Amino acid sequence: MREKLIKNLENAYAPYSDFKVSAIVVTSDGKMFTGVNVENASYGATVCAERVAILKAISEGYSSFKELHVMSNTDEEVMPCFLCRQTIVEFFDKDDYIYTYDKNNTYKYKVSELCPKAFTKEDLKWKVVL
Ligand code: THU
Repeated sequence: MREKLIKNLENAYAPYSDFKVSAIVVTSDGKMFTGVNVENASYGATVCAERVAILKAISEGYSSFKELHVMSNTDEEVMPCFLCRQTIVEFFDKDDYIYTYDKNNTYKYKVSELCPKAFTKEDLKWKVVL
């Protein structure tokens, strides 16, 4: 996975920050979708690597995931931003794993650890009684 992430870093479009991010989402049946951050001159239109990977998979008909892997072009691990965490809780189970990578190590976090007390579709259940 580390080698795939490093190779995929080359596709990041990050001319404004020079902070390149590579993500790979693994579906429940083992298929992988890559993502990179795609920046924009407007800054606000930038999309993170994690969301690109997840949204690519969704748009190809895959919505059940088991792992997300994330790496940047620095020596440090990069943690998913909170927009990405909100997207992660939409499609992952709380016991699924998020893996981050630094120069030498891989770190493993449960979704529930990185996204505690998230707002989820469960919170919208009131809608069915309307
Ligand atoms: N970025 C990601 O792609 N994923 C993260 O988890 C953190 C931030 C990107 C967005 C932007 O292109 C650059 O990193 C600097 O914030």
